[in-house]
Amino acid sequence: MFEHKTIDTADKTAFYAELAQQAGGLMTGETNLIANAANFAALMFNALPDVNWAGFYLYDGQELVVGPFQGKPACIRIALGRGVCGTAASMRETQLVEDVNAFDGHIACDAASASEIVVPLVRADGSLLGVWDVDSPTVARFDQADRAGMELACAAFMRANGG
Ligand code: SME
Repeated sequence: MFEHKTIDTADKTAFYAELAQQAGGLMTGETNLIANAANFAALMFNALPDVNWAGFYLYDGQELVVGPFQGKPACIRIALGRGVCGTAASMRETQLVEDVNAFDGHIACDAASASEIVVPLVRADGSLLGVWDVDSPTVARFDQADRAGMELACAAFMRANGG
């Protein structure tokens, strides 16, 4: 059984370092992408305060398709360049959206979502695996420390999944 260790959320740098380490541990010895993505989403969703959705959109060679996640049922397919997820995927750059209502083209899946962060998942060979997406019901929930921390956790995910 995985024992979820409570981590101090006051210091975001330390919080995400610990979270990335826990994520790496959780995926050690497992090569199945869906299994690892499911456990990664569950770990993050339960550890991160003030979030209402956390999960993956995986690139199928044409568009993004929803993958393992925690939260309410979500939109299934997102074209590259569309919404926050499609923008992160096509620009290959983390999107930090303080207010989703102010983001032109934001795709609303859960009406409760007010802010969002999306990290692109790019393999070492430059190909796109998908994106990691976290929503919060609070405006401006994510800052630059969250961005660095999410990117750290996503790097651990990519390392564990042949990325
Ligand atoms: N808001 C996202 C869609 C995915 S949901 O947040 C789960 C977007 O605009 O791409």
